Amino acid sequence: MSIQANPTKAGVGLRLPHLAEVAAARPDVSWLEIHPENFIANPHALELLEELAADYPISVHTVGVSIGSVGGVDREHLQRVRTVVDRLDPFSVSGHLAWSTHQGEYLNDLLPLPYDEETLAILVDHLDEVQQGLGRPYLVENPSSYVGFTGSTVNEVEFLSELVARSGCGLLCDVSNIHVSSHNMGYDARAYLDGLPEAAIGELHLGGFTVEDDGNSGGKVLVDTHSDQIADPAWALYAHALQRFGPRPTLIEWDADLPPFATLLGEAARADRVAADVLGGGGSSRAALG
Ligand SMILES: [Fe+2]
Repeated sequence: MSIQANPTKAGVGLRLPHLAEVAAARPDVSWLEIHPENFIANPHALELLEELAADYPISVHTVGVSIGSVGGVDREHLQRVRTVVDRLDPFSVSGHLAWSTHQGEYLNDLLPLPYDEETLAILVDHLDEVQQGLGRPYLVENPSSYVGFTGSTVNEVEFLSELVARSGCGLLCDVSNIHVSSHNMGYDARAYLDGLPEAAIGELHLGGFTVEDDGNSGGKVLVDTHSDQIADPAWALYAHALQRFGPRPTLIEWDADLPPFATLLGEAARADRVAADVLGGGGSSRAALG
């Protein structure tokens, strides 16, 4: 029986450089999210994680299950992820709306997909295979976007809503990705959140991004690097997400230029203050969002 996460207390991403410290110190953190790809070929790390999973709610977030690949889901990798999932019994299993393999080769980036009927049919088939292969429901995460496909026939919110309806999957709503994409693509981030199917939202993500020069437009482009503290506009959007959806397990996602674990706990504490403020647990929005 999975240990469920408290939806009003934020969790943090547990990356390998912090594993030994967390296993020894057992910090006061509500829940942990891991990438199974970090543990598949690392039996000692998986043993430590399994011990942690006895005490902390765990979310498994795969970066290697490629639901959008035309060539199909990598069944061997799916089975490896299933082995990790079965040992940890997480409260949530999720992955990206993207494809990261092509003709058997792994690509470094999570690449975008055109939002049309053909893509939808492929994803529904693949999600059926993934959810059956894992023996659990799967949450699909909204991507960060930098360019759109001219061939898309519906917008991302319409596409995700239809994907939920046809596949039975849930959604992992990455609030920072919405902020990044809305800046880069020029849409209204709050309207995006308002359009998502509330009942499908199983988890929220918050992560840092970097601001870079856009050589084409001469303006700025936001890049979803997970390498910094969460910026004020993303905190404000998080407050809007909580008003829209109510409490949801929220993750502080930090993958590159990892700071001390205490910094992640500080970001989680700030998320808790925003949640307490929005959901009526006290505090002031000026203090939480400032
Ligand atoms: Fe994310």
